[in-house]
Amino acid sequence: MPSPSIIVTRSLPAPVEAVLRDRYGAVLSPDDRQLSREELGRALDTYDIVLCTLTDRLDAELIERPTRRAVFLANFGAGTNHIDLAACRRVGLPVSNTPGVLTEDTADLTILLMLAIARRAWEGDQELRAGRWTGWRPTHLLGTRVSGKSLGIVGMGRIGRAVAQRARFGFGMSVHYWSRTRLPLADEATLEAQWHPTLDALLASTEFVSVHCPATPETRHLINAHTLAAMRPGAYLVNTSRGDVVDEAALLDALGGGHLGGAALDVFDGEPQVNPALLAHPRIVTLPHLGSATVESRVAMGERAIANIAAWLAGAPLPDRVA
Ligand code: DGY
Repeated sequence: MPSPSIIVTRSLPAPVEAVLRDRYGAVLSPDDRQLSREELGRALDTYDIVLCTLTDRLDAELIERPTRRAVFLANFGAGTNHIDLAACRRVGLPVSNTPGVLTEDTADLTILLMLAIARRAWEGDQELRAGRWTGWRPTHLLGTRVSGKSLGIVGMGRIGRAVAQRARFGFGMSVHYWSRTRLPLADEATLEAQWHPTLDALLASTEFVSVHCPATPETRHLINAHTLAAMRPGAYLVNTSRGDVVDEAALLDALGGGHLGGAALDVFDGEPQVNPALLAHPRIVTLPHLGSATVESRVAMGERAIANIAAWLAGAPLPDRVA
Protein backbone atom coordinates (compact mmCIF):
# COMPACT_ATOMS: atom_id res chain seq x y z
CA MET A 1 0.00 0.00 0.00
CA PRO A 2 1.48 3.45 -0.88
CA SER A 3 2.25 5.63 2.13
CA PRO A 4 -0.32 8.35 2.82
CA SER A 5 0.28 11.56 0.90
CA ILE A 6 0.82 14.84 2.73
CA ILE A 7 0.59 18.44 1.54
CA VAL A 8 1.90 21.42 3.50
CA THR A 9 0.03 24.61 2.62
CA ARG A 10 2.62 27.24 3.67
CA SER A 11 6.40 27.40 3.97
CA LEU A 12 7.64 26.20 7.36
CA PRO A 13 11.07 26.61 9.03
CA ALA A 14 13.74 24.71 7.08
CA PRO A 15 14.39 21.95 9.67
CA VAL A 16 10.67 21.20 9.82
CA GLU A 17 10.33 21.09 6.04
CA ALA A 18 13.38 18.79 5.86
CA VAL A 19 11.70 16.20 8.10
CA LEU A 20 8.38 16.46 6.29
CA ARG A 21 10.04 16.04 2.91
CA ASP A 22 12.71 13.45 3.74
CA ARG A 23 10.78 11.29 6.19
CA TYR A 24 7.25 11.59 4.85
CA GLY A 25 7.65 12.65 1.21
CA ALA A 26 5.40 15.64 1.89
CA VAL A 27 4.63 18.12 -0.88
CA LEU A 28 5.87 21.51 0.33
CA SER A 29 4.67 24.96 -0.62
CA PRO A 30 6.79 26.15 -3.57
CA ASP A 31 6.07 29.85 -3.03
CA ASP A 32 4.52 30.31 0.45
CA ARG A 33 1.42 31.77 -1.19
CA GLN A 34 -1.93 31.62 0.62
CA LEU A 35 -3.98 28.96 -1.19
CA SER A 36 -7.18 30.11 -2.85
CA ARG A 37 -10.41 28.41 -1.89
CA GLU A 38 -10.26 26.40 -5.09
CA GLU A 39 -6.69 25.29 -4.41
CA LEU A 40 -7.63 24.31 -0.86
CA GLY A 41 -10.46 22.21 -2.25
CA ARG A 42 -8.02 20.53 -4.64
CA ALA A 43 -5.61 19.87 -1.78
CA LEU A 44 -8.40 18.21 0.21
CA ASP A 45 -9.37 16.12 -2.82
CA THR A 46 -5.82 15.04 -3.66
CA TYR A 47 -3.95 14.37 -0.40
CA ASP A 48 -4.56 12.14 2.63
CA ILE A 49 -3.17 14.62 5.15
CA VAL A 50 -3.30 18.41 4.91
CA LEU A 51 -0.87 20.31 7.16
CA CYS A 52 -2.69 23.62 7.26
CA THR A 53 -2.34 26.99 9.00
CA LEU A 54 -4.54 29.86 10.11
CA THR A 55 -4.54 31.32 6.59
CA ASP A 56 -6.51 28.31 5.29
CA ARG A 57 -10.25 28.91 5.74
CA LEU A 58 -11.61 25.39 5.98
CA ASP A 59 -15.37 25.90 6.13
CA ALA A 60 -18.13 23.30 6.27
CA GLU A 61 -18.67 23.29 2.52
CA LEU A 62 -15.02 22.46 1.84
CA ILE A 63 -14.87 19.86 4.60
CA GLU A 64 -18.12 18.13 3.62
CA ARG A 65 -17.41 18.01 -0.12
CA PRO A 66 -18.08 14.49 -1.38
CA THR A 67 -14.83 14.43 -3.37
CA ARG A 68 -12.67 14.93 -0.25
CA ARG A 69 -9.81 12.48 0.08
CA ALA A 70 -8.16 14.07 3.13
CA VAL A 71 -8.58 12.00 6.27
CA PHE A 72 -6.60 14.12 8.72
CA LEU A 73 -5.93 17.85 9.19
CA ALA A 74 -2.74 18.68 11.13
CA ASN A 75 -2.99 22.37 11.94
CA PHE A 76 0.22 24.35 12.42
CA GLY A 77 -0.91 26.70 15.20
CA ALA A 78 -2.85 26.64 18.42
CA GLY A 79 -5.94 28.55 17.26
CA THR A 80 -8.35 26.58 15.09
CA ASN A 81 -11.08 29.14 14.47
CA HIS A 82 -10.32 28.98 10.71
CA ILE A 83 -11.50 25.35 10.65
CA ASP A 84 -15.14 24.38 11.05
CA LEU A 85 -14.51 21.80 13.76
CA ALA A 86 -18.21 20.91 14.02
CA ALA A 87 -18.20 19.97 10.32
CA CYS A 88 -15.02 17.92 10.89
CA ARG A 89 -16.73 16.06 13.72
CA ARG A 90 -19.82 15.44 11.57
CA VAL A 91 -17.77 13.79 8.84
CA GLY A 92 -15.28 12.10 11.22
CA LEU A 93 -12.28 14.13 10.03
CA PRO A 94 -9.74 14.34 12.87
CA VAL A 95 -7.94 17.64 13.47
CA SER A 96 -4.89 18.38 15.65
CA ASN A 97 -3.25 21.64 16.69
CA THR A 98 0.04 22.73 18.32
CA PRO A 99 -0.71 24.07 21.80
CA GLY A 100 1.76 24.93 24.54
CA VAL A 101 4.88 25.48 22.47
CA LEU A 102 4.12 29.11 21.58
CA THR A 103 2.91 30.20 25.00
CA GLU A 104 6.05 31.93 26.27
CA ASP A 105 6.71 33.86 23.07
CA THR A 106 3.12 35.05 22.76
CA ALA A 107 3.20 36.16 26.41
CA ASP A 108 6.48 38.01 25.78
CA LEU A 109 4.93 39.82 22.82
CA THR A 110 1.92 40.77 24.93
CA ILE A 111 4.22 42.46 27.43
CA LEU A 112 6.08 44.13 24.55
CA LEU A 113 2.81 45.60 23.27
CA MET A 114 1.66 46.70 26.71
CA LEU A 115 4.94 48.55 27.27
CA ALA A 116 5.00 49.91 23.72
CA ILE A 117 1.60 51.58 23.95
CA ALA A 118 1.98 52.81 27.52
CA ARG A 119 5.53 54.17 27.00
CA ARG A 120 4.82 55.52 23.48
CA ALA A 121 7.74 53.52 22.04
CA TRP A 122 6.42 53.48 18.47
CA GLU A 123 5.81 57.22 18.48
CA GLY A 124 9.38 57.78 19.64
CA ASP A 125 10.76 55.42 17.01
CA GLN A 126 8.83 57.18 14.25
CA GLU A 127 9.89 60.62 15.47
CA LEU A 128 13.54 59.61 15.52
CA ARG A 129 13.50 58.00 12.07
CA ALA A 130 11.71 61.00 10.61
CA GLY A 131 14.46 63.27 11.91
CA ARG A 132 11.98 65.15 14.11
CA TRP A 133 13.76 64.65 17.45
CA THR A 134 14.97 67.95 18.84
CA GLY A 135 16.62 66.50 21.97
CA TRP A 136 15.78 65.54 25.54
CA ARG A 137 13.24 67.69 27.34
CA PRO A 138 11.26 67.20 30.54
CA THR A 139 7.88 67.03 28.86
CA HIS A 140 8.81 64.97 25.82
CA LEU A 141 6.56 61.97 24.92
CA LEU A 142 5.40 61.33 28.46
CA GLY A 143 3.81 57.92 28.79
CA THR A 144 2.16 55.95 31.54
CA ARG A 145 3.98 53.79 34.10
CA VAL A 146 3.33 50.05 33.77
CA SER A 147 5.09 48.72 36.89
CA GLY A 148 2.78 48.36 39.86
CA LYS A 149 -0.41 48.99 37.85
CA SER A 150 -3.36 46.62 37.51
CA LEU A 151 -3.78 44.16 34.64
CA GLY A 152 -7.04 42.46 33.68
CA ILE A 153 -6.68 39.23 31.73
CA VAL A 154 -9.62 38.10 29.62
CA GLY A 155 -9.26 34.33 29.22
CA MET A 156 -6.92 32.56 31.63
CA GLY A 157 -5.63 29.71 29.47
CA ARG A 158 -1.97 28.90 28.96
CA ILE A 159 -1.07 32.28 27.43
CA GLY A 160 -3.18 34.27 29.90
CA ARG A 161 -1.38 32.54 32.77
CA ALA A 162 2.05 33.17 31.23
CA VAL A 163 1.18 36.87 30.88
CA ALA A 164 -0.07 36.93 34.49
CA GLN A 165 3.21 35.44 35.69
CA ARG A 166 5.28 38.08 33.86
CA ALA A 167 3.06 40.97 34.92
CA ARG A 168 2.88 39.96 38.58
CA PHE A 169 6.45 38.88 39.23
CA GLY A 170 8.27 40.90 36.54
CA PHE A 171 6.43 44.19 36.84
CA GLY A 172 4.78 43.98 40.25
CA MET A 173 1.35 44.49 38.69
CA SER A 174 -1.78 43.36 40.45
CA VAL A 175 -3.32 40.67 38.28
CA HIS A 176 -7.05 40.20 37.82
CA TYR A 177 -8.82 37.83 35.46
CA TRP A 178 -12.11 36.68 34.06
CA SER A 179 -12.36 33.33 32.35
CA ARG A 180 -15.01 30.82 31.35
CA THR A 181 -13.51 28.49 33.92
CA ARG A 182 -12.13 29.76 37.20
CA LEU A 183 -8.62 28.51 38.01
CA PRO A 184 -8.16 26.13 40.93
CA LEU A 185 -7.56 28.21 44.08
CA ALA A 186 -4.01 26.88 44.36
CA ASP A 187 -3.20 28.22 40.87
CA GLU A 188 -4.78 31.58 41.73
CA ALA A 189 -2.59 31.69 44.82
CA THR A 190 0.57 30.80 42.86
CA LEU A 191 -0.11 33.53 40.31
CA GLU A 192 -1.44 35.91 42.96
CA ALA A 193 -4.33 36.52 40.56
CA GLN A 194 -7.79 37.67 41.53
CA TRP A 195 -10.81 36.23 39.72
CA HIS A 196 -13.78 38.43 38.80
CA PRO A 197 -17.19 36.84 38.27
CA THR A 198 -18.09 39.02 35.27
CA LEU A 199 -16.20 40.63 32.42
CA ASP A 200 -17.63 44.04 33.31
CA ALA A 201 -16.37 43.72 36.88
CA LEU A 202 -12.89 42.88 35.58
CA LEU A 203 -12.87 45.76 33.10
CA ALA A 204 -13.99 48.26 35.73
CA SER A 205 -11.10 47.23 38.00
CA THR A 206 -7.99 47.42 35.84
CA GLU A 207 -5.77 49.95 34.09
CA PHE A 208 -4.57 47.50 31.43
CA VAL A 209 -6.67 44.79 29.78
CA SER A 210 -5.19 41.95 27.75
CA VAL A 211 -7.31 39.58 25.68
CA HIS A 212 -6.37 35.88 25.56
CA CYS A 213 -9.56 33.97 24.80
CA PRO A 214 -9.98 31.83 21.69
CA ALA A 215 -12.14 33.05 18.81
CA THR A 216 -15.49 31.27 18.97
CA PRO A 217 -19.02 32.37 18.05
CA GLU A 218 -19.45 33.29 21.75
CA THR A 219 -16.34 35.49 21.91
CA ARG A 220 -16.92 37.34 18.61
CA HIS A 221 -16.92 41.06 19.53
CA LEU A 222 -16.71 40.23 23.21
CA ILE A 223 -14.89 43.55 23.44
CA ASN A 224 -17.59 45.85 22.05
CA ALA A 225 -19.08 49.28 22.68
CA HIS A 226 -20.63 48.10 25.94
CA THR A 227 -17.55 46.37 27.33
CA LEU A 228 -15.22 49.16 26.17
CA ALA A 229 -17.42 51.63 28.06
CA ALA A 230 -17.01 49.44 31.14
CA MET A 231 -13.21 49.90 30.99
CA ARG A 232 -11.68 52.51 33.24
CA PRO A 233 -11.10 55.96 31.71
CA GLY A 234 -7.59 56.07 30.26
CA ALA A 235 -7.19 52.27 30.31
CA TYR A 236 -5.20 50.41 27.65
CA LEU A 237 -6.35 47.41 25.63
CA VAL A 238 -3.96 44.75 24.27
CA ASN A 239 -5.07 41.98 21.92
CA THR A 240 -2.80 39.10 20.89
CA SER A 241 -5.56 36.48 20.55
CA ARG A 242 -7.76 36.85 17.46
CA GLY A 243 -8.97 39.99 15.74
CA ASP A 244 -12.65 39.23 15.74
CA VAL A 245 -12.79 39.15 19.56
CA VAL A 246 -12.59 42.96 19.40
CA ASP A 247 -15.17 45.12 17.61
CA GLU A 248 -12.67 47.39 15.86
CA ALA A 249 -15.21 50.09 14.97
CA ALA A 250 -16.26 50.32 18.62
CA LEU A 251 -12.60 50.47 19.66
CA LEU A 252 -12.00 53.39 17.30
CA ASP A 253 -15.06 55.15 18.75
CA ALA A 254 -13.86 54.57 22.32
CA LEU A 255 -10.44 56.00 21.45
CA GLY A 256 -11.92 58.87 19.44
CA GLY A 257 -14.17 59.82 22.35
CA GLY A 258 -11.13 59.95 24.62
CA HIS A 259 -12.37 57.17 26.91
CA LEU A 260 -9.36 54.85 26.44
CA GLY A 261 -5.67 55.63 26.76
CA GLY A 262 -4.69 53.46 23.80
CA ALA A 263 -4.69 50.01 22.24
CA ALA A 264 -2.06 47.59 21.02
CA LEU A 265 -3.11 45.00 18.46
CA ASP A 266 -1.25 42.00 17.03
CA VAL A 267 -4.35 40.55 15.34
CA PHE A 268 -7.12 41.98 13.17
CA ASP A 269 -10.61 41.13 12.05
CA GLY A 270 -10.28 39.92 8.44
CA GLU A 271 -6.46 39.99 8.45
CA PRO A 272 -4.29 40.45 6.44
CA GLN A 273 -6.64 43.30 5.53
CA VAL A 274 -6.48 45.90 8.28
CA ASN A 275 -8.83 48.82 8.74
CA PRO A 276 -6.67 51.84 7.70
CA ALA A 277 -8.19 53.89 10.53
CA LEU A 278 -6.47 51.54 13.02
CA LEU A 279 -3.12 51.97 11.29
CA ALA A 280 -3.44 55.75 11.16
CA HIS A 281 -4.48 56.14 14.78
CA PRO A 282 -1.84 57.82 16.97
CA ARG A 283 -2.85 55.86 20.06
CA ILE A 284 -2.87 52.39 18.51
CA VAL A 285 0.24 50.25 18.17
CA THR A 286 -0.02 47.50 15.56
CA LEU A 287 1.98 44.39 14.70
CA PRO A 288 1.32 41.89 11.88
CA HIS A 289 0.31 38.80 13.93
CA LEU A 290 3.78 38.14 15.37
CA GLY A 291 2.75 36.48 18.66
CA SER A 292 4.50 33.18 18.00
CA ALA A 293 7.00 34.50 15.45
CA THR A 294 10.28 33.23 16.87
CA VAL A 295 12.46 30.53 15.39
CA GLU A 296 12.01 28.56 18.61
CA SER A 297 8.21 28.63 18.58
CA ARG A 298 7.78 28.04 14.88
CA VAL A 299 10.18 25.06 14.86
CA ALA A 300 8.46 23.63 17.94
CA MET A 301 5.06 24.13 16.29
CA GLY A 302 6.30 22.20 13.26
CA GLU A 303 7.66 19.42 15.45
CA ARG A 304 4.33 19.25 17.23
CA ALA A 305 2.44 18.99 13.93
CA ILE A 306 4.84 16.22 12.87
CA ALA A 307 4.29 14.38 16.16
CA ASN A 308 0.56 14.39 15.45
CA ILE A 309 1.10 13.15 11.90
CA ALA A 310 3.40 10.39 13.20
CA ALA A 311 0.75 9.35 15.72
CA TRP A 312 -1.95 9.32 13.04
CA LEU A 313 0.23 7.22 10.72
CA ALA A 314 0.91 4.76 13.57
CA GLY A 315 -2.79 4.51 14.37
CA ALA A 316 -2.09 5.93 17.84
CA PRO A 317 -4.21 8.56 19.64
CA LEU A 318 -3.38 12.10 18.47
CA PRO A 319 -1.50 14.00 21.18
CA ASP A 320 -3.29 17.28 20.35
CA ARG A 321 -6.64 16.27 18.95
CA VAL A 322 -9.20 19.10 18.77
CA ALA A 323 -11.82 17.31 16.61
C1 DGY B 1 -1.75 30.38 16.76
O1 DGY B 1 -1.02 29.41 16.92
O2 DGY B 1 -2.97 30.27 16.72
C2 DGY B 1 -1.12 31.70 16.64
O3 DGY B 1 -2.03 32.72 16.47
C3 DGY B 1 -0.08 31.72 15.55
O4 DGY B 1 0.78 32.74 15.91
